[in-house]
Amino acid sequence: MKVSIIGAGNVGATCAQVLAYQQIADEVVLLDINEGYAEGKAMDIMQSANAIGFDTVVKGSTNDYKQTENSDVVVVTSGIPRKPGMTREELISTNVKIVETVIKSTLEHSPNAVLIIVTNPLDTITYAALKLSNLPKNRVIGMGNLLDSSRFKYFLSKKSNLPISELDAIVIGGHGDTTMIPLPNYSKYKGLPIQDFLTQQEIDEVVSETMVGGATLTKLLGTSAWYAPGASAAYMVDAILHDKKKLIPCAVLLEGEYDTNDVVVGVPCVIGKNGWEKIIELDLTDAEKEKFKSSVDAIREVNAQIPF
Ligand code: APR
Repeated sequence: MKVSIIGAGNVGATCAQVLAYQQIADEVVLLDINEGYAEGKAMDIMQSANAIGFDTVVKGSTNDYKQTENSDVVVVTSGIPRKPGMTREELISTNVKIVETVIKSTLEHSPNAVLIIVTNPLDTITYAALKLSNLPKNRVIGMGNLLDSSRFKYFLSKKSNLPISELDAIVIGGHGDTTMIPLPNYSKYKGLPIQDFLTQQEIDEVVSETMVGGATLTKLLGTSAWYAPGASAAYMVDAILHDKKKLIPCAVLLEGEYDTNDVVVGVPCVIGKNGWEKIIELDLTDAEKEKFKSSVDAIREVNAQIPF
């Protein structure tokens, strides 16, 4: 089971680290355009094998895609991250060009891979990757909503003092500060509605904190986050490599689902060896449907900037 990660920066290297520490893959190849960088990250991770105890082999490559050949899954994190005050959408012109070259080289060597896109603006880059690759739609998946849902759970747990591991929470819509849609009605503690544990005002605060969760970290760190994004990408890799049929909210091409066509946006999907295998249509309130429509409209505006 081989995974390649294009972009050995903060998110890419963290993803490789989780894949190795949890022995999710047999082989992980980190590739970066920056000379020696991926080799250095890979070597550093491998030198933690003794202390952690894993057999996954992590290799590094400076732009040599031959080393990525026959990957089962390719995670794309190459691109610039946002700086404090920037939106994810502002990254479009730089990152879409980077992803264009990356996708072509990747598919030459791994034509059967499932692609997980992490580069922002997530929904638009995933849409561009799908168009560029000509892959079946189920094999190109954006990692955004899983991260947003993890942040939603974190803020719910902080506010309620309930353990994260016992909470269910889901965020659909775009992976943007104003386009994501946390769904309190689907938030549960051991199957019980979250409304039994938090007031409406507390829930509203949690929703707001979730929506700016990435921006809050970017302000604190000076660049965008990496631990949770890297771990979330690794979680998706695990679901694909081991055919776990996990229900994961992620960005996929809609063709009629949620009354939406020809746009990549976050919805709950069953994830297994074929990529996304089924889209789950949630029963949304009228207000949530309206928010979903606005989210889709906003994503379409960014999609219009794709230069091909
Ligand atoms: N091919 C391979 N690697 C590239 C290319 C390319 N054409 N262009 C850039 N890279 C590499 C950079 O050299 C860098 O090491 O991508 C890496 C990006 O790493 P970071 O700058 O640390 O950014 P990171 O925080 O990992 O975020 C990457 O994920 O969450 C999103 O918004 C974030 O779009 C950003 C992406």
